[in-house]
Amino acid sequence: GKSNVSHNAAKHTMNIAHRGASGYAPENTMAAFDKALEMKADYIEIDVQLSKDGKVVLMHDAMIDRTTDGSGIVDDYTLEELKQLDAGSWFGPQFAGEQIPTFEEVLDAYRGKIGILIEIKNASQHPGIEEKVAAALEERNMDKPNNGKIIVQSFDHGSIAHFNALLPNVDTGVLMGYNAEGISDAQLAQFATYADYVNPNHHMVDADLVSRIHDYGMRIAPYTINDQSRINELMEYGVDGIISDYPDLVGHGNAPQ
Ligand code: G3P
Ligand code: CA
Repeated sequence: GKSNVSHNAAKHTMNIAHRGASGYAPENTMAAFDKALEMKADYIEIDVQLSKDGKVVLMHDAMIDRTTDGSGIVDDYTLEELKQLDAGSWFGPQFAGEQIPTFEEVLDAYRGKIGILIEIKNASQHPGIEEKVAAALEERNMDKPNNGKIIVQSFDHGSIAHFNALLPNVDTGVLMGYNAEGISDAQLAQFATYADYVNPNHHMVDADLVSRIHDYGMRIAPYTINDQSRINELMEYGVDGIISDYPDLVGHGNAPQ
């Protein structure tokens, strides 16, 4: 939903742990989210897709091969099958036995403790995912105005316009992959009709883009920045959030006071 953005010099830059604190623990697992909490991040970022039996589950890639001991496409497995997989050992033996969490498990474990930036992945391959994400939030009364700590984003902007129509009070974001042309005013004006955030690849971000996004009444949280000097530079440009695998770096950033 749309909300007003107020600017002030002493603003806090949101520290958003990308797939959890994925520099320190296996991405999109409870271990990575616990680490983000421990590091005092403001948000965890999570990637959601649908299992074969239509459950909303956490997985970044279309395939399960990189981050589990299974192989193939996530959509080809039921939740019960996905729960058998080891989603931790690939990152380190101390994480053996980490499971693929469901979206609802993450909401129940972390709501009220840390914000959740929800990325809808491969929306066109998962018809109905927007309704399922919306229903899980609604069932928990997390769809009210100013809940403040839930944002739903996607590279699929149609999916976000759709989600915004379902739950207009929940903040939304459009993700932008890198393109050399940048982002036009016409695009920003369009995004502003259904989104609260424009979250670009950080290589596209300069001070001018930050102020243009603010001029359209939206906020900006670029991804994925793992370099301290670039984090500091983006904070000086006035970004509203930083998405990083290393929440401790963002915590050490020098936001203007
Ligand atoms: O939150 C933005 C970022 O996660 C988008 O890229 O590939 O890491 O999901 P990706
Ligand atoms: Ca993501």
